[in-house]
Amino acid sequence: MSSNRYVAKVVDSTSVFKDDIFNGKVLFCTGGGSGICKSMTESVMRHGANAVIVGRNSDRLAKAAEDLSKATGRTCIAAKADVREPEQLREAVAKTISKFGRIDFVICGAAGNFLSTISGLSENGFKTVIQIDTIGTFNTIKATIPYLRETKGAYIHVSATLHYRATPYQAHVSAAKAAVDALSAVLAVEEGLYGIRSNVIAPGPIGGTEGFDRLSAKDTPKEADALQKVANSTMPLGRVGHVKDIANATVFLFSEAANFITGQVLPVDGGNEHLREPFLPYPECILDSEKAKALTKPRL
Ligand code: COA
Repeated sequence: MSSNRYVAKVVDSTSVFKDDIFNGKVLFCTGGGSGICKSMTESVMRHGANAVIVGRNSDRLAKAAEDLSKATGRTCIAAKADVREPEQLREAVAKTISKFGRIDFVICGAAGNFLSTISGLSENGFKTVIQIDTIGTFNTIKATIPYLRETKGAYIHVSATLHYRATPYQAHVSAAKAAVDALSAVLAVEEGLYGIRSNVIAPGPIGGTEGFDRLSAKDTPKEADALQKVANSTMPLGRVGHVKDIANATVFLFSEAANFITGQVLPVDGGNEHLREPFLPYPECILDSEKAKALTKPRL
């Protein structure tokens, strides 16, 4: 590999955008207890917002809220809810309003993923991912719309790029994320009339996340090697994504600088989609069950 190959640097949004652009604003984020959504929440808070993070695991959520408050000097509270349960979401929204009095931004980020072929997936397995990703997004929108109308707020839905082409082992997630993209577009058209914007961020391969770990073949034992392998051959900008890349796009899309952008899908993938290869070797991943098992087992 040429040593003078360009590698995009990872930047922090506070070095680009003013640190007070979200002063007085409130973010409601599902899936904010970990990974990409936690980083998105942190960046919005670093620019002045307070936040509520929503998830199923109380301990993880409480710890994340404490970390986020400490790191940003703003207030983050945890609201336990399963996005599949409309009543629990309504309670999380009520907790937000009672604490902060408003909601300006919503991130629909709660998602479920695992690897399975269609032939190996139970009806309930398929339904579970649709319920978390698609119906969970719908439930979150339903519970928050009245408050976003008041603030003329904005939604960001965390989707994916894998449904742009057929991705083996991801039928359930592909169907769920395609529906999320569609939901966001209709939301933008209907609610734009009340001043609400809705956009989708589609992360490509993002290092250090559960998603990357689940979706990268385990023929390289260390994550660092797996990242380098992807970066070398399918990343025009020389590296896999960092959670900050998604966070930076979030700050831009929620900011006033994006107030004429709605109904769009923004892939944040360093150009990967143009070169993306099947993440498991095809057709062996379907035909050779022993090899498929080895490639999808947890990394050592
Ligand atoms: N392969 C095939 N089917 C699976 C599966 C896997 N790895 N994981 C779950 N399922 C199926 C279950 O077998 C079950 O179907 P069944 O009743 O026919 O057996 C169905 O999905 C529901 O599973 P369950 O574990 O009861 O649901 P849950 O609501 O507790 O959790 C997930 C569902 C998707 C959240 C869970 O698989 C999970 O914890 N995933 C990891 C976290 C994650 O996905 N994070 C996002 C990373 S991008």
